[in-house]
Amino acid sequence: MFKLSLISLATSVSIGHAEFLHPSRSTQNLFTTYPNIDACVGLPVQYSCENTTILTNSCCNVVQGGLVLQTQYWNTYTGLESQGQLLPQGSWGIHGLWPDNCDSSYDQYCDLSRQYDPAPSPSTLPDGTVVPPYQGPSVRTFIQDFGRYDLLKYMDTYWVNQGAPNEDFWAHEFSKHATCTSTFDVACYEPGYQEHKEVVNFYETVTKVFQMYPTYNILAATGIVPSNTTTYTLSQITNALYSQTGAVPYLGCFGSSGTILDEVWYFHHVLGTEQYGHFKTLNSTTPSSCAETGIWYYERTPTSERVVSY
Ligand SMILES: *[C@@H]1O[C@H](CO)[C@@H](O)[C@H](O)[C@H]1NC(C)=O
Ligand SMILES: *[C@@H]1O[C@H](CO)[C@@H](O)[C@H](O)[C@H]1NC(C)=O
Ligand SMILES: *[C@@H]1O[C@H](CO)[C@@H](O)[C@H](O)[C@H]1NC(C)=O
Repeated sequence: MFKLSLISLATSVSIGHAEFLHPSRSTQNLFTTYPNIDACVGLPVQYSCENTTILTNSCCNVVQGGLVLQTQYWNTYTGLESQGQLLPQGSWGIHGLWPDNCDSSYDQYCDLSRQYDPAPSPSTLPDGTVVPPYQGPSVRTFIQDFGRYDLLKYMDTYWVNQGAPNEDFWAHEFSKHATCTSTFDVACYEPGYQEHKEVVNFYETVTKVFQMYPTYNILAATGIVPSNTTTYTLSQITNALYSQTGAVPYLGCFGSSGTILDEVWYFHHVLGTEQYGHFKTLNSTTPSSCAETGIWYYERTPTSERVVSY
């Protein structure tokens, strides 16, 4: 039944855009990706890591990995330009949505039955568990199976890998991180779970939280634009982002003296699920790796970017 309907949707997509943009009620029902939060109605409502009573239902609250990081990176090239893998002009790129524990420690690759990462990193966990490389169909096909070409297009635009195809990056982020977030457990999608539903739902959630933080525009609007001739101070960058979030994000720099800006992480506690609940922005718990002054926010190689629409 599911497969047959998939084929009919694929047909209507190729016939005309209009049907895809205005899906019929039945198509919408077929492609839902949401968890079942029926049992959450009426439960105490508390932010993760701030709860004063035990959060009993791990599908209703983030009980594991309750310090949630929306991470973005600034790269100047992808290495796969010749294959059309380009960075979004006027935007930072998505890295992921990471579950830290309330004490800032973190778990990774928590469910090896959902290991889709072709190049696990680390390939051996601290407790000695080996994470086997995945060799099946890529997560790109999971998104296609749910008919989410809109999501796929967004991800190919804003969630861009360096040195390997985008889908390898997406698979890594899901299997390393989302498997450690309780609200993306398979059990939260019962009854009627369809395989990979939570993977697609995680990707939707990542893109949603990313859109809360238009890092490029916030910086540009305060006069901080990529430049190969001018450097910035850490406080200039921090203060600009603080002015719009009320929180100090983590800023990451590389280079021997920590002067090349390439990362920003926004910290949160979450009320309810990551899928639908409220993200409260918090100060970073990790000190910046950047120098205080002389920070380079490099311009990209022009041929590594493409113009994008929002
Ligand atoms: C908050 O919820 C978690 C998960 O259920 C629980 O382990 C922890 O003990 C709770 N904290 C308090 C103070 O009740
Ligand atoms: C967040 O950091 C800013 C700047 O250091 C500080 O003024 C503020 O009090 C911090 N907020 C909290 C809740 O700790
Ligand atoms: C700016 O510098 C970076 C880092 O060296 C380089 O990758 C990039 O191509 C340069 N961009 C321009 C427009 O010169």
